[in-house]
Amino acid sequence: NPVQAPELDKCGAATNLNNQKVLDINCCPPIQGDIIDYKLPPVHKLRTRKSAHRLSPIDVFKYNLAIQRMKELPEDDPRSFMQQAYIHCAYCNGAYNQPGQGDLDIQVHNSWLFFPFHRWYLYFYEKILGKLIDDPTFALPFWNWDNPKGMTIPPIFLDSKSSIYDSKRNPDNLKAVVDLGMTKIKDPMQLVTNNLTVMYTEMIRGNADVYDFMGQPYREGTPVSPGPGSSERGSHTALHVFVGDPREPSGEDMGNFYSAGRDPLFYCHHANVDRMWTLWKDVLPSDKVPDKNITDPDYLDASFLFYDENAQLVRVCVKDCLDTRKMGYDLQRIDLPWLDYRP
Ligand code: C2O
Repeated sequence: NPVQAPELDKCGAATNLNNQKVLDINCCPPIQGDIIDYKLPPVHKLRTRKSAHRLSPIDVFKYNLAIQRMKELPEDDPRSFMQQAYIHCAYCNGAYNQPGQGDLDIQVHNSWLFFPFHRWYLYFYEKILGKLIDDPTFALPFWNWDNPKGMTIPPIFLDSKSSIYDSKRNPDNLKAVVDLGMTKIKDPMQLVTNNLTVMYTEMIRGNADVYDFMGQPYREGTPVSPGPGSSERGSHTALHVFVGDPREPSGEDMGNFYSAGRDPLFYCHHANVDRMWTLWKDVLPSDKVPDKNITDPDYLDASFLFYDENAQLVRVCVKDCLDTRKMGYDLQRIDLPWLDYRP
């Protein structure tokens, strides 16, 4: 059977998975209203996600304003900045058990739920931000770390007076070239080349079947973390580690599940992770993996709970997040230089 959405009233303590200690924060969401099965609304105009390195001044202004307003919401509003960050903690640090499965946790990482969960998470995050600035076309930017022009933290995140700034980031990496292979290479040119071969391997060469990319099957009643896909294990995790602050006790903010969502850069990073899913599934040639769809109902019917932009509690399932255009967004086209970096 599919992993079921959590029972919010049974949400409990969360664990810091970097040191296995119980966290002294409450990352359970406020409970308000009844759960509605979410229906994707009709799409009138697509929201176009753009590279964070190429945003226009007006895009940057709107993004900052939206995050600022999210930070100004009352703390117990499920759409507030901290409540949105707690979503990641609750779904990733063991605050939820699988309904009817004793104390078996729900864990949305290291399995085929990784891409769908984060897609829905960003979907509502984006809709909330759009609502807060009264712009339904608002789209999250993506951190284009797969392209040499995007291989540093996007400069818009470095302005300490902006609402998308976070002080808990590795000071040595604020302007450094990312290290997608966690190689510790120092020479920037060599790093760029290595990053491109990492991308080629994750997106094309290293995947013999659909689960190599998507992550391993994860069903109700089975142990958490059956195994991540290539992109989750590789570039995705590398960037969490790259941004997290080694001066903090436990890699906060980006370097730890419980705190990652407190850095606005998290959502921009995940917008690119989400883009990798779209590229792999809908854009790249499918020679080695001819069918990139998972038709197993245990995947398609897995469900999650979120609050939408109107603070309505909704249940969503994986099968409704497989087409981004039906979800109302698409992506700025950017060239993919790693296609030529076959190792
Ligand atoms: Cu839920 Cu990048 O992790």
